[in-house]
Amino acid sequence: MRIDVITIFPDYLNPLREALLGKAVERERISVGVHDLRTWTHDVHKTVDDSPYGGGPGMVMKPDVWGEALDAVCPPAAETSPRLVVPTPAGRPFTQDLAHEWSREPWLVFACGRYEGIDQRVVDEASERMPVDEVSIGDYVLVGGEVAVLAMVESVVRLLPGVLGNPASAQQDSFSDGLLEGPSYTRPEVWRGRPVPDVLRSGNHGAIARWRRDKALERTWRRRPELLDALPEGALDRKDREA
Ligand code: ADE
Repeated sequence: MRIDVITIFPDYLNPLREALLGKAVERERISVGVHDLRTWTHDVHKTVDDSPYGGGPGMVMKPDVWGEALDAVCPPAAETSPRLVVPTPAGRPFTQDLAHEWSREPWLVFACGRYEGIDQRVVDEASERMPVDEVSIGDYVLVGGEVAVLAMVESVVRLLPGVLGNPASAQQDSFSDGLLEGPSYTRPEVWRGRPVPDVLRSGNHGAIARWRRDKALERTWRRRPELLDALPEGALDRKDREA
């Protein structure tokens, strides 16, 4: 997978070369390009923003600079075009389903806005030649899209074949069955007077699976009850309902 990021703070994206993501680059599962938006400015001050039409606080990122940047990173005449992702608190929610969808794409381009966002015409024009997703990583406001890109790229790349040491861990994620994952334990058997639940040491795989399912249901019910309402018809069986 090819990943390009356009930003006014290229160093902010340095973590893309660390840890799991850095390994994925080394192993050539992904290739990453980080581009400084100011490359496509033409004035001495390298201006990327201007005041909003209609007034109001904050600044809006200029369409001419963004237009040139996108033309350079994803040339309109090229054979292939990427999926363009624009992080914004006004976007639709980024979810695990979307991470799976993007993990099947050969090429993602992320456009990091700052200030009050990017002139909407940039997104409107880009939508005519490539799929565009305006997405939010949560109901809070960041200073810009960079941190959101780090979060989204990590969640996508860990789904790519050969990136996680044990592929089963992606299959058992919170959200993969629509529920939060329950608690986990490792050695020692008793720590500060707290024992590991007996069932996990019983060797009874059926009982362990049932216990894990019950804990996932209980945790989801307590912390994210709306997830239970969103489960597809038939996702809960009789034993789940008794839990
Ligand atoms: N930019 C600023 N806040 C954001 C958020 N919550 N999600 C994605 N991009 C953002």
